Amino acid sequence: MDFRIFKQLPRLIYGLGSINRLPELLPDDINKKTVMIYDSAVEQVVTPQFSNSEKIILIPYNSEKSEPYTSEVAEIIEKYDDIWPDTKAIVGVGGGSTMDMAKGLSVALANGLNIDQLQGWDIPTKPGIYKIGIPTIFGSGSEASRTAVFHNGVKKQGVNSDYSMFDSIIIDPSLSATVPLEQKIYTAMDCYIHCVESLEGTYINQIASGYAEKALDYCDQYFADLQNDELIAVASYYGGVSIVNSEVGICHALSYGLSIEFGIRHGLANCIVFNVLEDYYGEYCSIFRAIIEKYKINLPRLFPDGIEPDVLDRMVKQTLLMERPLENALGSGWRDKLNREQIEQIYLKM
Ligand SMILES: [Fe+2]
Repeated sequence: MDFRIFKQLPRLIYGLGSINRLPELLPDDINKKTVMIYDSAVEQVVTPQFSNSEKIILIPYNSEKSEPYTSEVAEIIEKYDDIWPDTKAIVGVGGGSTMDMAKGLSVALANGLNIDQLQGWDIPTKPGIYKIGIPTIFGSGSEASRTAVFHNGVKKQGVNSDYSMFDSIIIDPSLSATVPLEQKIYTAMDCYIHCVESLEGTYINQIASGYAEKALDYCDQYFADLQNDELIAVASYYGGVSIVNSEVGICHALSYGLSIEFGIRHGLANCIVFNVLEDYYGEYCSIFRAIIEKYKINLPRLFPDGIEPDVLDRMVKQTLLMERPLENALGSGWRDKLNREQIEQIYLKM
């Protein structure tokens, strides 16, 4: 098969404390302002440095309540209606949800469309407003990826486009210092799972595998004692680059069903799914379980009494929407290898 045109972030600053170097990445236009959308949970990281700058408009975003909804993009665009014409850059500071919100605002504004009209593959036709990603928890890979994922109440789907990639990122490993351990592990596992899905998928190629293998190596070292955030900060980025140039797989396809029906966050949802995927990812699942047990993480048992038929039906439909991840995982004949009943059986194990 022909691989997608390789797209990579043009600019990246790396290092402890490098968030202070943000001005080096901003476009020159002195008459315009920068909008910084930041996760309310990292207020202590953001406001001391940036609240006194009259050139930066701070927008807090509460990522704790849920993953981003398409309606929230529209609400923020409307609420700050008067500032967008004078905006030269949008900076997303936070976890995957906040960074996805920054990407979504950028492409929706530039394309003059609602974000739900841009969900799918390669739909935006115009580059977004210049955007910069600064992750404060590591693993989602959103800082490197083409994807910005949104719920609309019925389905969860990504905007997947070269234009939904950041123009610059800052990887500052010191930013995750105050994140609770359990949350760090769930998010780091998202990175581990990206790498496994990439390496084990049919879209794999030498470029993607190089990044995924190094990211897995860093994940292994990180999970040994959880002490060195530099390892997971770089692994997250490499894992993101790997899936940009391959694809996620069956774990992500199934996890979207859990997120849409039960509001389970992406990292945890992936962990719950990956835990029952030994038929697909074998030894990688054993390694995953050993890490989860080592750190005494109790994954919830979701369906000990079965699943309501209408709920199960919606989760299966959500999974089947994920055609590219399923094709990556199982090949072009994936529909013959994974039918509705098989998907139901996997969900019932959770
Ligand atoms: Fe993910």
